[in-house]
Amino acid sequence: MHRAVLRPDAPGTLRARLARFMRTVLLTLVLATGCGGAPVALEQPAGWDDAIALPPVTDEDPDPNVVQVSLEARITSLEVKAGTRSDVWAYNGGLPGPLIRARVGQRLVVRFTNSLPEATTVHWHGVRVPNPMDGSELSQAPVPPGGAFEYRFELRDAGTFWYHSHVNSSAQVGHGLYGMLLVDEAKGPPLGDALPLVFSDMSLAADGSILPGDQDGALGSYFGREGNTLLLNGRVLPHLGARAGVPQRWHLVNASRSRFFLLRVPGATLVRLGGDGGRIAKPEPLDAIFLVPGERMEVQVTFAAASEKHVVQLDDANRFHLPAPQPPEPLFTLEVQAAKPGQPKPPALPAALRSIDALDAGGGLARSLVLGDTSVAGKPVLTINGQPSWELPPLHARLGTTETWTVENTTDFDHPVHLHGYFFQVLDRGGVAFAPEWKDTINLPAKQRLRFAVSFDERPGTWMFHCHILDHVELGMMAMLMVDP
Ligand code: C2O
Ligand code: CU
Repeated sequence: MHRAVLRPDAPGTLRARLARFMRTVLLTLVLATGCGGAPVALEQPAGWDDAIALPPVTDEDPDPNVVQVSLEARITSLEVKAGTRSDVWAYNGGLPGPLIRARVGQRLVVRFTNSLPEATTVHWHGVRVPNPMDGSELSQAPVPPGGAFEYRFELRDAGTFWYHSHVNSSAQVGHGLYGMLLVDEAKGPPLGDALPLVFSDMSLAADGSILPGDQDGALGSYFGREGNTLLLNGRVLPHLGARAGVPQRWHLVNASRSRFFLLRVPGATLVRLGGDGGRIAKPEPLDAIFLVPGERMEVQVTFAAASEKHVVQLDDANRFHLPAPQPPEPLFTLEVQAAKPGQPKPPALPAALRSIDALDAGGGLARSLVLGDTSVAGKPVLTINGQPSWELPPLHARLGTTETWTVENTTDFDHPVHLHGYFFQVLDRGGVAFAPEWKDTINLPAKQRLRFAVSFDERPGTWMFHCHILDHVELGMMAMLMVDP
């Protein structure tokens, strides 16, 4: 009889161990062929993710309903580029910050301390938090150097989330202040071995020192600063192992301040399982992984055949719509080992992953926002409805209403837009309709129009809507949104 064992990937609580055991039993049943012979495990090669895996953070609370972590922002000297040192702005001394992993329904408590020379906050991107926990500079007073703040909220959605600084964010995120928050499903069939992957970049001088966050001034902000050093889980060209026919489940976030992420994985079958707000309704085959800054994805990756160690490259997403894209750049190395003789086929993906009802925006307010650019005193300024954030009056929405937003990009390059506090459902973009899916960040290509429905069903307060090219926030592409009780 064939036996299948997936690599344990959950924290060692009793419930998690039990869930893992049940999963193994289930897979064993699913894959049992009853034809005799030696048991063959459906597993990744030994040490497949040793060189790339993110270190987890310690849960300081024994209560199974609570995950409590300590998070300290401080400048830490790290060897980002081989043979050099960089003074990284890091959470808990790591780049990226520690992987915070929890299960849906648990409570997260983050005891944050700021040991930076500058004020900061921690924004929980995509998490449906109460407004005072949002970590934007509109929802809390920035934590001063030497100060502390406790973030606490319930994790109501499973999915791939992330946390990052929301003060002077282009520079602070560019210098390393980001990490992943992965919220696991309560239950579900095993769809592959989880691999959290944080994509980012950094601007480093030859000696490893981090280039100034405001390099090239307003023009640098206008174009959006892309670092010269590509990072995957904070590492330059890390190595990943895989086995043919054994699915991996990548949880991806694009944490770079401006760079888009376009990754084709030659030899792999890619199936998207989730987006910003957790699972999507049906598995969706992909040609490439495309993520704008702030956006997330859960994707099942299965390699068909063995391959020698080779470099996988990142393609240029051409967000400026130039006649020719930039050449690809090395991102990580990959080696795929051959399937074991008699290795079972992985279980088929379920036809449906989740049911998602379409939001009904009929009768609700229709709001229209126009993204533009102009110049003031010879300096570029980015606007919403003709005004930069510092002049734009706050948008007001009524609690309990569902609105339809139309956002139009009149500029010549793309803007990935992000809404704090609420998921939206894209109705259409560039005239193409979307299936209902929970999103909080999406690219709005040059000269296109996006429509989405959003329900301000709960949690009044002061939220934000902005372009997630963080340099563009600095130039004014941000609106304050007050959801009034
Ligand atoms: Cu991920 Cu207002 O940001
Ligand atoms: Cu933008």
